[in-house]
Amino acid sequence: MNFELTPLSLAGACQDKTEALIVLVSEAFKPGKDAISLLIAHALAAKDLDYKAGQMLAAYRVPGIAAPKVWLVGAGRGTAAHIKTAMAAVTPQIKSLEIKKLSILCTTALEAPSIHALVAAVSDGSYVYTTTQSKPKGRQLKSVQLGLVGINAATQSAFNTAKATVMGVEVAKEWANRPANHATPTALGLAAKSLTLGAKFSCEVLGPKEVAKLGMGSFMSVAQGSREPLRFIVMRYQGAAKSVAPVVLVGKGITFDTGGISIKPAAEMDEMKFDMSGAASVLGVFKSLSVLNPVINVVGLIPACENMPDGLAVKPGDVVTSMSGQTIEILNTDAEGRLVLCDALTYAERFKPAAVIDIATLTGACMIALGGVRSGLFASDDTLADALHQAGEASQDLCWRMPLDEAYAEGLKSNFADVANVAGRAGGAVSAAKFLQRFAKAFAWAHLDIAGTAWKSGGAKGATGRPVGLLLHYLLAHAAKAPAAAKVPAKRKLKA
Ligand code: BES
Ligand code: MN
Ligand code: ZN
Repeated sequence: MNFELTPLSLAGACQDKTEALIVLVSEAFKPGKDAISLLIAHALAAKDLDYKAGQMLAAYRVPGIAAPKVWLVGAGRGTAAHIKTAMAAVTPQIKSLEIKKLSILCTTALEAPSIHALVAAVSDGSYVYTTTQSKPKGRQLKSVQLGLVGINAATQSAFNTAKATVMGVEVAKEWANRPANHATPTALGLAAKSLTLGAKFSCEVLGPKEVAKLGMGSFMSVAQGSREPLRFIVMRYQGAAKSVAPVVLVGKGITFDTGGISIKPAAEMDEMKFDMSGAASVLGVFKSLSVLNPVINVVGLIPACENMPDGLAVKPGDVVTSMSGQTIEILNTDAEGRLVLCDALTYAERFKPAAVIDIATLTGACMIALGGVRSGLFASDDTLADALHQAGEASQDLCWRMPLDEAYAEGLKSNFADVANVAGRAGGAVSAAKFLQRFAKAFAWAHLDIAGTAWKSGGAKGATGRPVGLLLHYLLAHAAKAPAAAKVPAKRKLKA
């Protein structure tokens, strides 16, 4: 899809020979003498249109407007949230009418987060999954022109960043959407390899032997019931000096979660192919990094395997030894995410990271707590928590901080090991995070539980690509904030 930013006035937009035109009408709208302005003014006066975000009026073959289809959409104050709501009202039309050429005109200047919201909405509204269809139709939308007033260097750069972000989001969607027989641990390893071909990248994919050597007994116990060999994927992006501490992203890569011996009910079990959405988001972030080349170091870790019932599968009551040396009593084999993540967190220590963020479809309890709107954010470090929360707001990929009081770890006590892998049902998202925290003491750590936000169920079943937007926003803000000394050659650093 070709997506361009152009200066476009209301009068100019009237001449635009596009298939369809979306006009975002915000409160600050000032009418001119052109046909679009007249249409808006009349619609507002007749109360057929309102500035309220998401209010929409469709018009067809309006004299003086070259585009046959015009949608006027209220955009409130033009904030990112308002633009998101406005675009959500109109984008279903793009797909259902199979629009190929679209122009979007905003009647007032937009800030970076609003530009991001707009680009994200167009990507979201036109994305189609095709990989496992025999006669794929593919994305119909071929060209989009975004007309803005007051375009400057900052606007252009926000637009470019947003485009790179949605490329990453689409990679995450693609991998999360692929069925488990097409997105095996081996396939994820190959995907990681092909996403890290550039000069600043490297990638290592470890198999069962290497993982056993590392002593990842917890991770291995989840994989042991499956015929698919596990993979431990280590992706590296080095955009800054070697001495700069990296941010480590850890993505849960359960390519299918049956629950194992603690097997899940049949209803909607197919959706457990999305249980590697955390891993998919890490792949997505690396895609965006390859486009943006920011001055930062990032490590991506993906423990990938299936969770299956089998004669050799791990059993409730089994005790395993994690890479950290801590023993774990596996009381429920369906609480497997934390078992693969804990060893990846221990592995992360070797990078002496500035921060470690794990991303996981970890608990049904988090979905119950926060629904599909905000991901659960848990953090041992307030600065990191604030930065991630802020990144969520700016990218409209929202999250909400949850508690980590020690009292929530009470239920994880075991008579047979250092820790049990489950506590009671109450507060299940928090006790899962408390389990992970035991393995994340050596660095600033945050955990994003994306169980409710990584995919949609029902008729719109499909991956959302979240939280790629949040993560990328966080990483770019982190890069911008990094001490200048880290960016200049060592010699100059000494003089200063
Ligand atoms: N992958 C699931 C969590 C999940 C379930 C995400 C449904 C989205 C929708 C995870 O591995 C799991 O099964 N968690 C259990 C934990 C429980 C056994 C303590 C859960 O949430 O039920
Ligand atoms: Mn599970
Ligand atoms: Zn799971």
